[in-house]
Amino acid sequence: MVLKWVTFLVVFLYVFPINNGSRELYMYSITREEELELEKEVQSLNKPPVKTFQLEEGDIIDCIDINKQPALDHPLLKNHKIQLVLVILKERPDYKYHGVMGKMSIHNITVGEDQSSSTNIWVGNGPPDQVNYIAAGLMMSPMINGDSLPRMFTYWTGDVAQRTGCFNMDCKGFVQVHKIFAPKYLFPPPYAVYGGQMIDHNFQLLQDKETKNWWLVLELKTPVGYFPKELFPYLSEGAGVVEWGAVAKTGKNGISPPMGNGYKPNRVFDQSSYFRRIRFVDGNFDGQRPSKHDTENYEDPSGCYKLINDKDYGGQLFSYYFLYGGPGGQCGNNSVS
Ligand SMILES: *[C@@H]1O[C@H](CO)[C@@H](O)[C@H](O)[C@H]1NC(C)=O
Ligand SMILES: *[C@@H]1O[C@H](CO)[C@@H](O)[C@H](O)[C@H]1NC(C)=O
Repeated sequence: MVLKWVTFLVVFLYVFPINNGSRELYMYSITREEELELEKEVQSLNKPPVKTFQLEEGDIIDCIDINKQPALDHPLLKNHKIQLVLVILKERPDYKYHGVMGKMSIHNITVGEDQSSSTNIWVGNGPPDQVNYIAAGLMMSPMINGDSLPRMFTYWTGDVAQRTGCFNMDCKGFVQVHKIFAPKYLFPPPYAVYGGQMIDHNFQLLQDKETKNWWLVLELKTPVGYFPKELFPYLSEGAGVVEWGAVAKTGKNGISPPMGNGYKPNRVFDQSSYFRRIRFVDGNFDGQRPSKHDTENYEDPSGCYKLINDKDYGGQLFSYYFLYGGPGGQCGNNSVS
């Protein structure tokens, strides 16, 4: 656990001080040897665990603004209903977060031709009619990806998808720096198997302290690319909203796709889809594990999908985790469109 944290902190130092215009070249030049070297350095460090984050009573806003929920609108999927499960880091007035991360399980599910199902991390900020947000994670979406396989996705908007923003590289915005890991990257097998092996991938959205750009980092140490701060009128000083969760979009017939592994979670980890080791970056650019009081839940009212957020530390392997998922199907009309 300490090791993972130090890895994170080192990545932070490693990725972020590069502000001299040669960032992209530098990124490309990271070799496997250097990665191994870095890992060795990391292992020789022995930093104390990060301090625990304290919430002030009364600073907590409990209501969840439906307009701030990340709809992930794609032109082709614009009028499809969405269903969400979310774990939300509570907003605090005049307080900004600088990152979000977690390990999300990866599953081999099949979604319909015009359905979409994704597992995401988000950061957002801004007034309801102009919310800026960034999302990244795994998505199964034939309309967006051309197949139903689990692929990396990114999404951004500077105005609740009114005029700016898009998925992946569909518009200018996201600056890719890694040659292989890019939006639509196909995560190869192995995938998690129900009742069998558990496989997950770590995603991080981290704000560079110096440039204020937002970086997508994979597996703790691989920078994929960044979202320049200029895209976001309201995210340059940090995010007010930080979330982990999943999004299901119905097909035109109103049928909802499976979410996660396609089963409602049941506290048997290898039978559930999960996020584990979730973390956020606080106002001082320090990584933090949420405390039990830091988060709230949103579970789609349709009852088609379930969220179990034990707000528990679940040992070192799982740390702060939650379980989610469901089969989809005929989910009724209780969803936002
Ligand atoms: C994924 O699921 C499809 C359809 O069920 C199956 O044909 C394929 O073998 C699976 N792939 C893996 C790697 O599990
Ligand atoms: C959903 O709404 C449509 C139109 O408003 C209605 O025809 C349909 O019966 C509703 N379905 C369910 C499951 O409530």
